[in-house]
Amino acid sequence: MSEGIDEADRPAEVTGGAPDLFSKFDPLIQLRTNLLSAGQEDPFGLVMEKVISPTEAICNGRQTILLGTYNYMGMTFDPDVIEAGKKALDDFGAGTTGSRVLNGTYAGHKAVEEALCDFYGMKHAMVFSTGYQANLGIISTVAGKGDYIILDIDSHASIWDGCKLGDAEVVPFKHNDIEAMEKRLKRIPEGAGKLVILEGVYSMLGDIAPLKEMIRVAKENGAMVLVDEAHSMGFIGPNGRGVAEEQGCLDDVDFVIGTFSKSVGTVGGFCVSNHPKFEILRLVCRPYVFTASLPPSVVATACTSIRKLMHAGNKRAHLWENSKTLHKGLTDAGFQLGTSEPQSAIISVIMPDLERGAAMWEALLHEGLYVNLARPPATPANMTLLRCSLCAEHTAEQVQTIIGMFQRAGKTAGILG
Ligand SMILES: Cc1ncc(COP(=O)(O)O)c(C=O)c1O
Repeated sequence: MSEGIDEADRPAEVTGGAPDLFSKFDPLIQLRTNLLSAGQEDPFGLVMEKVISPTEAICNGRQTILLGTYNYMGMTFDPDVIEAGKKALDDFGAGTTGSRVLNGTYAGHKAVEEALCDFYGMKHAMVFSTGYQANLGIISTVAGKGDYIILDIDSHASIWDGCKLGDAEVVPFKHNDIEAMEKRLKRIPEGAGKLVILEGVYSMLGDIAPLKEMIRVAKENGAMVLVDEAHSMGFIGPNGRGVAEEQGCLDDVDFVIGTFSKSVGTVGGFCVSNHPKFEILRLVCRPYVFTASLPPSVVATACTSIRKLMHAGNKRAHLWENSKTLHKGLTDAGFQLGTSEPQSAIISVIMPDLERGAAMWEALLHEGLYVNLARPPATPANMTLLRCSLCAEHTAEQVQTIIGMFQRAGKTAGILG
């Protein structure tokens, strides 16, 4: 961790009097220095010294309840998942050392793509090394020069970066605002290709999109639709296919993007689609072609996990219970939350500012609870948030313990009166 900017730390000479390329980071360095010099523990530098289960770890030598992971369905320690990973490690080795289009497609990569087709009831699935790369690749490849991307302003960084990597015109609209989206769609020149990009669950506030209506409007205006279901896969919808399934409009989605790093419990990303020409993307999508494929152990764990998630109705029901209980408990305690009703497994607690948010984060850690501290630019409207993400493996008792921890930490940090 930097100790701030000291004259002595400055590079002795930068060629030709050009500025130090790191000077643009000075405001952030200063912000961190100010925060940490007051004795605040670094909220972005926590180490998990041992992970006990999907819901508990040892942090700073203390047993800590995890309420800030994306392990929504608790699959990381599933015995079948672990067994599949170990077997693949033994049978196929530690890595593929190659691209999917050269030597990097093993039986396991085909098996996980088949599992995804079965999970979503779709014809095609393409697996990437991360969800970030799935968005980067699909968006930049599908929407090209002369095309238009119409996207929610609160879209995830990987969606924005996918737009930057491609050559399409990018037209943002106000978060979840159907009218604003429609207006922008109607302004697009006749004959241009259009891709509307939406998310099922928006991960900062944990709110969901009115996908059914938005997709109807997108289709009426001749657009293709991509929905990122990273935070809903496995949990939302009768079969865990996401918000589009829950709202009965999955058949109208052209591309579903998802990740293995949340409910699936490992790492990787994917796109599923019924588009008849989808397979050509394997040859033209640079973030798919120009990178090594996932290790055999990872695709084996993902494949087993996805197949188990197809039959996880009880877990989904329990996770909804957890979400409702925590939402009510925190509301009753006097916290201001990101949504008035629980809409997903993410419950965000709005903090007055970064300093008090960091103090509350630390007070919770001392109680034995880990949550995510989120700040701009990741958050909408410059908010500082304590993001709580629940797991299907949290017991009802743990959720009550968590509420008690919030009440005590809220008083310690001066958030509650
Ligand atoms: C909405 C959304 N899309 C994509 C991603 C990227 O997923 P991955 O962790 O697999 O790169 C994330 C990760 O947080 C996300 O929140």
